[in-house]
Amino acid sequence: MRPIILDCDPGHDDAVAIMLALGNPAIDVRAITTVGGNHVVDKITANALGVLAACHDSSTPVYKGAAKPLMRPVEVAETIHGETGLGGVDLPSPLREIETDNAVSAIIRLVMESNPGELTLVATGPLTNIALAARVEPRIVERLREVVVMGGAISGGNWSACAEFNIHVDPEAAAIVFDEPWPVTMVGLDLTHQALATAQVEEKIRALDTALGSFTLDLLAFFRETYRDVEGFDDPPVHDPCTIAYLIDPTIVETIPAPVSVEWRGELTRGMTVVDRRAQAAQAHTRVATRLDHERFFDLVVEAISTLSHRKDNAHV
Ligand code: BDR
Ligand code: CA
Repeated sequence: MRPIILDCDPGHDDAVAIMLALGNPAIDVRAITTVGGNHVVDKITANALGVLAACHDSSTPVYKGAAKPLMRPVEVAETIHGETGLGGVDLPSPLREIETDNAVSAIIRLVMESNPGELTLVATGPLTNIALAARVEPRIVERLREVVVMGGAISGGNWSACAEFNIHVDPEAAAIVFDEPWPVTMVGLDLTHQALATAQVEEKIRALDTALGSFTLDLLAFFRETYRDVEGFDDPPVHDPCTIAYLIDPTIVETIPAPVSVEWRGELTRGMTVVDRRAQAAQAHTRVATRLDHERFFDLVVEAISTLSHRKDNAHV
């Protein structure tokens, strides 16, 4: 099993990332840490607890993290995720409390307590917590196995002409994370815009006929509507779980080595990820995702929802 810490800002696609991570036997979620992003940190932390409850998970600890980016004012994605940060669903009551420790301390403690090269950090929100952790305890940089980031793009953006939301919100933090010499894999828009939740995908989820399946369909319906109205997509791109799929099976999410630098000074280019695809750059400590196997990716997602649904059934037998 691959042990991970999932640093996230749920968020519709973060919620699906949580489901895939909890429901796949190859992944061991040691902790969920939260960061202000899709909405303010209190709301998205409540969402994380609610999603865990929907997954019938009472064992994964949740640590609340940074409320603000390092240098910038708070900027949320309410137009996409609604005023709760998880529009379209009523969340079940949490099965546990938020941990008293903060996310940055928890990341440092869990990494320093783990064996070298054991833990992977998956980030599906702005990179504030990860940057703070690397600055407070630099030894985590060589101790982690890998950092997998949903964010950035080889080209283009979704929050500006050239920046993706997670990087745009906290570009200074992103610059720290991409500059540190740990292995970083960028799962950016080039890849996640291939992860479209089509009607066929929804049909497979509906066929499960479970409460968690219906919950996921409600999430996707809301996401479909906002992505259609705001970004002109026919089907919504389910970005964040692509990071987890990459860890489960890297043949589903193909990557190439390439240096990545984050532009944080540019007036027009703030939050742009500059990817150097020249052949001589192949020795980079960073990789970027390029191609998704759509069918196998969503099969993993559907299977995880099914597994979590039946775990509940088992618990009640
Ligand atoms: C990213 O931004 C957020 O709105 C999503 O949850 C995802 O992590 C996509 O740009
Ligand atoms: Ca996210």
